[in-house]
Amino acid sequence: MLTAGEKREIAEEQGRYPDRRAACVEALKIVQRSRGWVSDDSLRELAEHLGMTADELDGVATFYNMIFRRPVGRHVILLCDSVSCWIMGLEELRAQLKQKLNVDFGETSQDRRYTLLPVACLGACDHAPALLLDGELHGDVDAEKLDALVGQRG
Ligand code: FES
Repeated sequence: MLTAGEKREIAEEQGRYPDRRAACVEALKIVQRSRGWVSDDSLRELAEHLGMTADELDGVATFYNMIFRRPVGRHVILLCDSVSCWIMGLEELRAQLKQKLNVDFGETSQDRRYTLLPVACLGACDHAPALLLDGELHGDVDAEKLDALVGQRG
């Protein structure tokens, strides 16, 4: 069941659109923020609330790579794996994360702190390699910067 708080936030978002269903991306983000990820049950509840089918909403959820359809760690690293970042050292960063956190693409660390996911171009090619950490964009990432970024998270 959607909580009263989730329903209230979703209603606020729906107020910004002429069609209730147009707020579906924001509604997915609201559910994810409160539950950590969007399970099949959560997706079904939300689809019903929005007047959509679960398949329709799942199509939206899987299109946006910021919506997690599987459990993730406390922190999510989306490492750009498009061409500019690949040229500028993506593989070294990936290897560093694997060595430091023991995670590769699609995996969550054993302590559930970090999930590492690949993502298409973040639009920061002039600052490649780039990544999003908990939704925050970081560019010109080198070994030292990456170490500091993951070192300061709890
Ligand atoms: S290729 Fe990585 S930000 Fe564009």
